[in-house]
Amino acid sequence: MAHFAYRHSDLCCEQVSLRSLAADVGTPAYVYSKAALLESYRGYDDAFAEVPHVVCYSVKANGNLGVLGTLARAGAGADIVSGGELFRALRAGFPPGRIIFSGVGKTRDELREALKAEVLMFNVESLSELRALDDVARETGVRAPVALRVNPDVDPETHPYIATGLKTSKFGIPFAQAHEVYAEAASLKGVEVVGADIHIGSQLTKAAPLADAVARIAALVKTLRERSIEIRMVDVGGGLGIRYRDEAPPTHREYARVLLPALRELGVTVLLEPGRSIVGNAGILLTRVLYRKETGEKTFVVVDAAMNDLIRPALYDAYHELQPVAEARLDAPRETVDVVGPICESGDFLAKDRALARTEEGDLLAIMSAGAYASAMASNYNTRPRAVEVLVDGNRYTIVRRRETYEDLVAGETVL
Ligand code: LLP
Repeated sequence: MAHFAYRHSDLCCEQVSLRSLAADVGTPAYVYSKAALLESYRGYDDAFAEVPHVVCYSVKANGNLGVLGTLARAGAGADIVSGGELFRALRAGFPPGRIIFSGVGKTRDELREALKAEVLMFNVESLSELRALDDVARETGVRAPVALRVNPDVDPETHPYIATGLKTSKFGIPFAQAHEVYAEAASLKGVEVVGADIHIGSQLTKAAPLADAVARIAALVKTLRERSIEIRMVDVGGGLGIRYRDEAPPTHREYARVLLPALRELGVTVLLEPGRSIVGNAGILLTRVLYRKETGEKTFVVVDAAMNDLIRPALYDAYHELQPVAEARLDAPRETVDVVGPICESGDFLAKDRALARTEEGDLLAIMSAGAYASAMASNYNTRPRAVEVLVDGNRYTIVRRRETYEDLVAGETVL
């Protein structure tokens, strides 16, 4: 996370001190680096430069309009999974012709909205959805550009909750049924077959499963062509992992090197759907230590961020690095602690049995690698307002989402 480093004794995001930022906007706060965002987006764009391609950023990882707008202006497309994400993507300025609509349970209303917006492609995940889309498109008087999301049945070797390409998962059309469903798609008046799609899982740190999946989809595209079903776009999904602790995921170039041979040969436009690898290490969650508590059994560091701000440790047992904002704290003696939030659940922890330099009440901590699936999965549990989000650009910052107020939390409710 090169854009988060110590300067003049404070941890900074680019040139903005997190200590002064906390004084300005309060804690907890999500802090994003614009330079880091653009760097990871351009890493993909450069690595795939030799083929026609669109990097469709996966909005679910972080749908903040400030983040989306930055990527849209840089030339990215968007991968969306709901009507809400379509709304966000359009509001942020993504051209509809660079938006792909994925997801296992799109409603008819959502399909209609996306047809009206004229998105680039629908990634269809079942025969039932295909028929519904055909129906809605004919009602609307248009033809829906369609790819089938095929489940290649490869083991992505990741956390079971975020593996999607196994044949036991709810995602995609089973490989064995792909030809049959493509044949039906080709016969429907309301849809036009344009592509093929895979996505095998998230936080992938090995290249081999990706290579296997792409080889399978390339073989499918060839046999479809033999049957006169022309595929001009192949969507390889997202999923490339990031370094949270000591993982060594493939770089953009290594990733491209694994995928490109099979894709180049097909002569298709390549679509990518990366989320985490664009935004994950471009953000942190800034929190302040409220209390210390020593029980004899354990030492707890109670902070003002909680599982409602970052659910990944509770949900996936995920590891997020913690760094003190004051560089001097790094020299304090180490102790083993649980870093926990104020929520009334034992599952509300941000780090467990972690060896950390001793922190005191009032200290600021940066929870690293919190750009992806942190604010996006935040909730109001325990009636906690969602935290402010800040986008840093050099020595300036913009509040891209203000902290929620108590009034925001009850807006829409009624006292009887
Ligand atoms: N495309 C599809 C169809 C997806 O389902 C996903 C993620 C992506 C693209 C983007 O994947 P990425 O590049 O971000 O790995 N909440 C979990 C991750 C869930 C991923 C869901 N699908 C976490 O915090 O680890």
